[in-house]
Amino acid sequence: MVPKHELSDFGNHENSEVERWDLMQRLQVDFCLDLEWPFYYQSPAWHAAQSVLDIGCGNGYYLGKLAERFPDKQFTGYDISDEFIQIARKEQGSEKISFGVGDAHAVEGKYDFILARLVFQHLPDPEHVLTSIAESLNPGGHLLIVDSRDVWRYYYPECPRFMEFFDAFIKSQLDRSLNRDFVRTLAGNVGDYPTWNLGGAWEVVIPSTTPGNLERFRRIYGEVIQFVEESETVDLDFKALHEEWDAWCKNPDAYTHAGLSIVLLQKK
Ligand SMILES: C[S@@+](CC[C@H](N)C(=O)[O-])C[C@H]1O[C@@H](n2cnc3c(N)ncnc32)[C@H](O)[C@@H]1O
Repeated sequence: MVPKHELSDFGNHENSEVERWDLMQRLQVDFCLDLEWPFYYQSPAWHAAQSVLDIGCGNGYYLGKLAERFPDKQFTGYDISDEFIQIARKEQGSEKISFGVGDAHAVEGKYDFILARLVFQHLPDPEHVLTSIAESLNPGGHLLIVDSRDVWRYYYPECPRFMEFFDAFIKSQLDRSLNRDFVRTLAGNVGDYPTWNLGGAWEVVIPSTTPGNLERFRRIYGEVIQFVEESETVDLDFKALHEEWDAWCKNPDAYTHAGLSIVLLQKK
């Protein structure tokens, strides 16, 4: 069976999925960003950085928000998807931000600070990307990685079918060598790397009670269910999952939260 498309094939938009992924990226920025600001504001390395690269910048929506708040820096965004880079250039391009098509496995240029947000979980060879990023950092430069932290996922009222679905999705990703836990484990293993020092590691919980977030969660997870179902990579009773999910979405008392792993590395 050949899957129509897979959740991680961001670079291959053969099925005109760009608009859906574009929306997903905006929702994923809007529902987390307020809880990510502290990691920028409290970071001396961030304040000192003059040149910033966002690797896997997607539509540039996130980088645009950073550039608004920190106009003293020069920003560059790279993504493997030409379609996203076109959107990024059109909407966010300015004297302060430039965009280009580029692969995280072969980063070009030199920067003080590199970001990789929700990208490592989509990379089959994250070790290679770490090496490539290190070569593009100026001495003492920093890498900030933000990725999903799946174990924090929680639903009230409980959604056992959704949890089963998500576990099956994580496993299907692992079967494709996409390890959604890589970033969290990296924090504990930094001592094994000759290139990196650990600048800090945090886990952040994003609640649905933040204004606007409940609706964002509903839309994001609705899309995730749809994508995975269409990809035919997970064998589940999707009818029952949709029933459970629709009931949860209609419940005015529904609550959920998700998690992020945030890791700051410094190049030795
Ligand atoms: C979930 S999106 C995150 C986008 C953006 N960083 C954000 O936080 O809004 C993942 C992005 O990684 C990009 N990507 C995947 N593999 C890549 C690679 N090997 N090199 C560069 N970008 C890649 C995808 O095209 C996609 O835009």
